[in-house]
Amino acid sequence: MQVAIVGRGRLGRTLAQLLPAAGHPTVLVGRGEEVPPAEVVLLCVPDRAVAEVARALPVGPVVLHCAGALDTDVLLPHERRGSLHPLMSFPGPEIAIPELQGTPAAVAGTDEARAVATRLATDLGLAPFEVPGDRRLYHAAAVLAGNLAHVLVDEAARVLAAAGVDPEQAPGILIPLARRSVDNARFGLDALTGPIARRDHGTLRAHLAALEEHDLRSTRTLYEALLKHALARLGDADPPLAHNE
Ligand SMILES: NC(=O)c1ccc[n+]([C@@H]2O[C@H](COP(=O)([O-])OP(=O)(O)OC[C@H]3O[C@@H](n4cnc5c(N)ncnc54)[C@H](OP(=O)(O)O)[C@@H]3O)[C@@H](O)[C@H]2O)c1
Repeated sequence: MQVAIVGRGRLGRTLAQLLPAAGHPTVLVGRGEEVPPAEVVLLCVPDRAVAEVARALPVGPVVLHCAGALDTDVLLPHERRGSLHPLMSFPGPEIAIPELQGTPAAVAGTDEARAVATRLATDLGLAPFEVPGDRRLYHAAAVLAGNLAHVLVDEAARVLAAAGVDPEQAPGILIPLARRSVDNARFGLDALTGPIARRDHGTLRAHLAALEEHDLRSTRTLYEALLKHALARLGDADPPLAHNE
């Protein structure tokens, strides 16, 4: 299929490299440039720009957006409208092109547009799936598992640096543990290890006290909230986490 990608950003530039190799001749169009005739127009612009960019396009081609949080009606008045959202982080081809083989990608839209999104996904090596319910929940799940997992490891690296480890080395020291723990999540909370799984409240209280003493108060607040949530999920609804308990 002849594809026109609108948006020379991180995802647009990456897909413009990958789609031709997947058998789809592709033109990449930037801001203010005319979109050439194509069978599929793939919008790789920021979510807030999707509706406006779609309205400016001539009706005819299949129009797809790549936004995880947006419904496909944002592409009205296009009749053949849909979405292709790879569940992956794309930092831009100059930094890294992620491995797409087997990477899940949410496809949505009218029958024809969804079929086109599915075909593009499959040809890129992605594993297409559909989200029947609220798309905002789908995207919140993606942010929890991706962006917030990233933020948590970054936060952990700050705590390790506060323990005297070289801040440059701290992320690399923690990432093997983070990777393995994320992999274990496929088995649910039954596979959790460590002081939370052991209900070792004394050790957890010591962590909270250390964060307080080392002036990492916002990290302490985050840590305590996550601890309470995790313990409640494990049936420990009122854990003794205060200093004097
Ligand atoms: N990057 C990812 O990891 C990722 C993953 C999955 C899905 N997505 C989705 O992909 C879409 C793009 O994200 P991104 O990360 O690639 O964003 P990005 O790096 O910020 O790039 C967006 C690009 O769109 C351009 N743009 C803005 N308004 C435009 C317009 N009216 N006409 C033409 N181009 C316009 C921007 O140009 P200017 O710089 O001139 O504003 C920029 O080059 C979003 O819907 C996002 O949710 C991204």
